[in-house]
This record gives sequence, C-alpha cells and structure tokens, in this order.
Amino acid sequence: MTPNISASTASNKAEFYQDLELQIQGVTDGQRNWVTNLANSSALIYHGLRAVTEKPINWVGFYLLDQSVPSTKQALILGPFQGKVACTNIDFGRGVCGTAAAEARTMLVKDVHEFPGHIACDAASNSEIVVPLVLDGRVIGVLDLDCEVTEGFDEVDQAGLEVVAKYLVQACDWRGVI
Ligand code: SME
Repeated sequence: MTPNISASTASNKAEFYQDLELQIQGVTDGQRNWVTNLANSSALIYHGLRAVTEKPINWVGFYLLDQSVPSTKQALILGPFQGKVACTNIDFGRGVCGTAAAEARTMLVKDVHEFPGHIACDAASNSEIVVPLVLDGRVIGVLDLDCEVTEGFDEVDQAGLEVVAKYLVQACDWRGVI
C-alpha cells in the first residue's frame, strides 16, 4: 500500500513534531509490521528533522529487544535506521541506549563525552537522545538519534519523540521482538 503523505512544510521544531505525528499515522495506516513501520518512521524523522533544524543529525534508528539472548541477560539488537553502519548489539545498562532501556526513561545527552560508557558507533557524534519504547510496562526497544554537534537535541525533541515512541508501540505488531 502506498502511504498518502506529503513532505513536512514545518518551519520550526514544535510544528515539525506535530506534522510528524500525522505523517507517521499516515505511513502506518493499514500497516502493523514493525520492521516496515520503524523503517519509514526513521526516514521521516531523519530527513524531516535535518531539514527543519539544519543540524547535522547523523543517525536516527531503533534498537529492539534481542530474543536470541537468554532472558536473564537482556540486550538490544540493531533495527531499522537511517545513517551509517552502527553497532549491532548493546546490553541493557550499557551506553546511552542500554541505560535508557534499563532505566525505562529518556536519556537527553547534550555532550556524549560526558556520558560514562557512551558507545561511539560513529566518532563524529557529539550529542544523542534515546527514548525507550515501552509496551505494557516493559521496554521492548529504543529510538536513538545522534547529532554531530553538542546540544543537538533539547526538551522539544524529547517531548516530540516520546509521543512518536508511544504511538509506534501501539501501532505495530511486535512478533519476533516480544
Ligand atoms: N551511542 C549509542 C550507541 C548506538 S549509536 O549511537 C547508533 C550508545 O551509547 O548506546
């Protein structure tokens, strides 16, 4: 099915996130496959946010629960994304992603060099935001964004991305992840 959406014409970030919600609703209309929906969502966020902020956002994507590890040792595995090749496996509690997953809360990191244990998939990244995907109280993955400058993300991004994460959790079937 071809999604009936148009490119965001938002002129500021708050407006962009309002548009984004509608665009993600558009691309997920009639589609509940998580790979498909996360792939299109990462493309919408990556291209849209780069255009509206003019910041060098260099990676937008998802890590999901890795079902191949024993349940006693929770870990994340790379999912759909936009950007350069990235680390494939991250244990809960490790790096910014693993910390967001273990603590079930957003990590807004203005300077990754000040975050103990930050995993540098790309040495060009200087700031990062990671939002957990929570289904029925359980973390099933994270949404991760990187930027090449410090302070690439702020509380407006946090609020907008938390809405996206919440929407996607309900909009997808998570077969294979949970
Ligand atoms: N920097 C992340 C690793 C994932 S990449 O940024 C795509 C972290 O510290 O968990």
